[in-house]
Amino acid sequence: MHPLATKPPCVIAIYPGSFDPITNGHLDLIERSARLVDKLIISILRNENKQPLFSIQERMDMLRDVVGPYPNVEVDSFDGLLVDYAAARSATVILRGIRAISDYEYELQMALMNRRLRPQIETVFLMSGEAYSFISSRLVKEVFRLGGDISGLVPPPVEQRLKNRFLGEK
Ligand code: PNS
Repeated sequence: MHPLATKPPCVIAIYPGSFDPITNGHLDLIERSARLVDKLIISILRNENKQPLFSIQERMDMLRDVVGPYPNVEVDSFDGLLVDYAAARSATVILRGIRAISDYEYELQMALMNRRLRPQIETVFLMSGEAYSFISSRLVKEVFRLGGDISGLVPPPVEQRLKNRFLGEK
């Protein structure tokens, strides 16, 4: 049998992203994918070029707050090439969500580049839940900053952190 055709005994998936901050769309994907794999590692890109609202530590804390109930989900961060990090963590799957057709081109480019770099690692896409297909971290931050209601779009601990950050509430 071709070596690429063997399934590992334990399927480890990486769910990479900026998560600045985690939204209910991300959480929906986490819940659904945690049922598909043995271990799910949510990993935040440490990227100095992007100017995030929340630090890596804050984003990791928020993620850990909300994934507590899932025993096979871990939170981590990475830099460098995603496929190298995935290989170092013994992952064979990269997990990404697709909300709308507009996500497709960017995701296809990344998936094909990652496959070229390491064909052993497969990118798997899950379609966003229909209730979440319009949510993005960027829009949540913008709406909140301009005084709009974001309840139901992010988990409660994230809403609290946004209030602390923008309104100075404790
Ligand atoms: O949530 P995002 O910002 O859309 O996630 C993008 C992410 C982190 C998946 C992507 O930028 C990435 O994988 N960066 C790591 C560097 C890398 O491997 N680049 C080549 C990708 S083809």
